[in-house]
Parts: sequence; structure tokens; C-alpha cells
Amino acid sequence: MPHAPVAKHEPSPWAIEFRGVGRTLPSEDGPKSILTGVSGRLARGRVLTLIGPSGAGKSTLLSLCNLLQTPDMGEVFIWGREVRTWLLAELRRRVGLVMQQPVMLPGTVADNLAVPSRLHGRPQPDGYRLLQQVGLDPSLLQRPAAELSGGQKQRVALARILSNEPDILLVDEGTSGLDRESAEIMERHVRRLVASRSLTVVWVTHDLEQARRMGDETWLMDKGRVVEQGITEAFFEAPQTEIAKRFLRAGLRADRRTLAPGEEDES
Ligand SMILES: Nc1ncnc2c1ncn2[C@@H]1O[C@H](COP(=O)(O)OP(=O)(O)OP(=O)(O)O)[C@@H](O)[C@H]1O
Ligand SMILES: [Mg+2]
Repeated sequence: MPHAPVAKHEPSPWAIEFRGVGRTLPSEDGPKSILTGVSGRLARGRVLTLIGPSGAGKSTLLSLCNLLQTPDMGEVFIWGREVRTWLLAELRRRVGLVMQQPVMLPGTVADNLAVPSRLHGRPQPDGYRLLQQVGLDPSLLQRPAAELSGGQKQRVALARILSNEPDILLVDEGTSGLDRESAEIMERHVRRLVASRSLTVVWVTHDLEQARRMGDETWLMDKGRVVEQGITEAFFEAPQTEIAKRFLRAGLRADRRTLAPGEEDES
């Protein structure tokens, strides 16, 4: 029996798919491989937490999804289409990236929030609502963005990305400068968007508790490779590889060192 033809524009169930992705950069000691053979996929409406030691390649992997960098090997598919075949503006609207060190543009917070809609020729966003969504006081709208604290800038960067109504959100250490309460406001908001709009999220974090709270799936990266992929609960309860076991043990020890005396007995 002949196969049914595949509709050309049928949306892929996979928001993101990496197929054998590699990236090499020149260095003083010759070419240095920073990503090697990365494969994996994430369905719509799922939250992937991406963890791993510093230098593992997490930010590099994110940057391939909206073409801040291109892979030298393999392919990256967004909604079933290879990233390099997308119109860049459309790709960047639909795949929002909150960077590790967000850049504020000159002007007020309101000006910053208006940038994406101006670029994409859409009506001005409701800055008041956007700030509320990320737990910031809307009275900040008229403040020069450069005067905000690091944590406030991170949240304005998230609000700015959300004004595009992306369907994929990439967050690179988005809560690292925030106190626990502000971090949890951001987590809850992103989780609400996942539930209400089936937003797909890749969330990079060094905070293992957060990776566990936020993730449906978790990938551990090390030295440019994805060394373990799993459902988040299973990954943290019963990691399969030695490297994941060691990484989780070391992470938990590091977390304990930051606890105040007397807090250890809580967990
Ligand atoms: N522009 C660049 N030029 C040279 N090397 C780079 C460049 N960008 C990244 N690297 C190297 O690529 C590797 C992966 O970096 P990447 O920033 O993706 O790691 P990461 O997992 O995000 O680390 P961190 O947790 O510290 O943010 C590192 O060894 C880094 O030094
Ligand atoms: Mg990084």
C-alpha cells in the first residue's frame, strides 16, 4: 500500500530537534571542539532543563536554536524546519532567548519593552502587564534601563522576549542574579505560560533544585556532549551514568555548603 503523502506544511510535533550537532572553534592549540554529536528532541509544551559544568557547551547549544551561532556539523530543526532555512526575523520572534548577561538598550524600561514590536512592525505592548508578569513593579517603566540591578535587567529581558509571544523560550541562567523569591516568581510565570499556551522551554541552570523543580526532561552536558537525557524525576532519582551520579553528588554537596547552619535537617 502506498504511503500517504506527508503534507508539506504539517507542523512537526518536535519543537526542537538536534541531529548529530557539532561545533568547532579555532584556538591557540588548534581547532577546539565545543559541541560533539549532540542529538535529542523536545516536544511542544515541554520544559527541558539543561545542566552541566561550566564550559560544557550549554550556552552554545542554545545559541544554535536561534542562529546566534551555526553548527559546523549536523542539523538543528525548529518545528521540523532546519534553522538555516528560516527567515531570521521570524525565527528570532518565535524562538526567544534570554541571555546569560542581558543587554539593555539605551532609554527607559518602557523603551526596552517596545523594541521587539517596533522591529517586527506590531502594536506597542502593554508594558505594565509585561512587568507584572515577571514580578517587577510597573513603576519601573519610566526608569532608565541602565540603572536597574542585574536581577531586574534579567526580568526586563524576559519581559521583552515575552512581548514577542514566542512559542519556544530559551533561558540561559535567567535567575542567577535573583533572590529566591524573585526566581520563583519567574519560574511560576514561565510554568504558567507552559500550561496556558504550551510554550516550549529550554532552561539552563546551575541550580540543581531549580532544574528538578522546573524540568519535565533534563539533559546533562559535559565537554560538549550530552551525556545523559531523561525524564527529570527519573534523572534525579536514579541517574544512569557514572558521570551523572558524580555530578549530582558534587552539586548536592555544593548546595549544602551554601546552607546556613541548622538548615541541613530540612531535606
Ligand atoms: N567565542 C568563543 N571563542 C572561543 N571559545 C569559546 C567561545 N564561546 C565559547 N567558547 C568555549 O566553548 C566551550 C563551551 O562554552 P559555553 O559558553 O557554551 O559553556 P556553558 O556550558 O554555557 O558554560 P557556563 O556554565 O560557564 O555558562 C567553553 O570551553 C568555552 O570556553
Ligand atoms: Mg553558559
